[in-house]
Amino acid sequence: MSFVITAGSLNGMVGDFLFDERVRNERAELEKLGESAAPLFDRADTAALATLINEHDRDISGRLLVLDTAGKVHLDTAHELTGTLFESEEVDAIVRRGQSVSFGVHESETGRMVNSQGILFSANPSGSWSSYCSARLVSNDEVIGVLMLVSPVTDMMTGLFSFRRQMIVIFLLVAVCASAVGFLFASVLTRPVTDMTRVIQRMSKGNFKLRVPEKGSGEIRHLAVTFNSMSEKLEALDETRNQFVANASHELKTPLAAMKVLIESLIYQPDMDKALRTEFLQDVNKEIDRLSAIVSDLLTLVRMDAGSIQLHMETLCVGDLVEENAHRLNTMARKRNQTLTIDVQDECETTADRSKLNQVIYNLMENALKYTQDGGEVQVTLRRVGENAVLSVKDNGPGIPADAIPHLFERFYRVDKARSRETGGTGLGLSIVKQLLSLHGGSVRVESEEGKGSVFTAEIPIKKE
Ligand SMILES: Nc1ncnc2c1ncn2[C@@H]1O[C@H](COP(=O)(O)OP(=O)(O)O)[C@@H](O)[C@H]1O
Ligand SMILES: [Mg+2]
Repeated sequence: MSFVITAGSLNGMVGDFLFDERVRNERAELEKLGESAAPLFDRADTAALATLINEHDRDISGRLLVLDTAGKVHLDTAHELTGTLFESEEVDAIVRRGQSVSFGVHESETGRMVNSQGILFSANPSGSWSSYCSARLVSNDEVIGVLMLVSPVTDMMTGLFSFRRQMIVIFLLVAVCASAVGFLFASVLTRPVTDMTRVIQRMSKGNFKLRVPEKGSGEIRHLAVTFNSMSEKLEALDETRNQFVANASHELKTPLAAMKVLIESLIYQPDMDKALRTEFLQDVNKEIDRLSAIVSDLLTLVRMDAGSIQLHMETLCVGDLVEENAHRLNTMARKRNQTLTIDVQDECETTADRSKLNQVIYNLMENALKYTQDGGEVQVTLRRVGENAVLSVKDNGPGIPADAIPHLFERFYRVDKARSRETGGTGLGLSIVKQLLSLHGGSVRVESEEGKGSVFTAEIPIKKE
């Protein structure tokens, strides 16, 4: 479009320039001749006028006409039009509009006038062309006639037309090149986006393993990188979710299978002795407790994941909670000859959710006692470090292998599966501890050496209402 506009106006400008050049040359000549011819025409001295005009005709290329104000030709150096009416725009300009000179280009055959702009779109390039240049004849401040020079301008017009032709050829070339380059750029720019869309469509069907190629530069590449990192997270999340569902199903199935065996024995052996029967029923009862523990742990986790868990904050002393739990666990410790020592160096008054914090402390202390051999030692220390209440639970149990430590806080992770199940563990305890602490703005960490024991350290920020 812009090329068409530029070419059009350029063509017009060149045309105007050529026309003007022409006018400037002819106009001066014609005006001078007009001045000498006017008195002769006024006096109707045709012989003298003819001599003057014919004399000039030899110097100028073209033909001279003398017309009266009605457009009637009085003199024609080519002797063709004398006595006829000659109508043209250039005569009108002098007679009706009062111009002193006028100029125009006409097609020789038809006399049709064209302007410099019109040449680009209309006009017959193979025709012959004439320029009409008119000047007034004045006597006593009154226009009495028109002096007209008709000269061939086919050469000038041919130049103009070849210029036009070149413009059209250049335009076509430019248009083809621009379209090709545009198409190329568009496809280079849109291809990564199309690729990405295709991958997203396939991903939305559940395949999170897909990645988009990180090609190109700038924004598109940045988008691809961001998209891929999002896909990675989605894939990991999907994997965790699948793992979680698989683990949960497995954990729920184990007690159910055990219960089925026990109950079938009860059904198919109606004459079983009473003591064995009671023992079986007690076992069933234990499995129910296990199921119930797993389900309630799962519910806690799912609620925390959904962010729908509510903390009921109140002012409490962490020291009191430690004492309380020690009291609850003392029976268990005594049964296994374990020593449980409590060392509360600071009461650590803070604002927290009592039952949630209780769960954290109970889980850590219970684990220490549970996984430590009979006759072992568990030391619980509470002290204040800066703005934190620091609870450390130390035992001299079997410790935790170094390769297990990074997984310890994962859901359902247990170092010794068989042993943990035997002791009624679900493998969810530590992941609940971690999440409950982080809800309070705290954290938990573990240090352990195999064969020597472990230390679990929980930090709870001390907040005042
Ligand atoms: N004090 C400890 N000493 C040794 N191993 C421990 C200790 N605390 C936790 N563990 C290991 O970490 C695993 C995960 O603990 P947890 O999440 O509380 O699950 P659970 O107690 O239900 O098995 C346990 O199965 C156990 O193998
Ligand atoms: Mg536990």
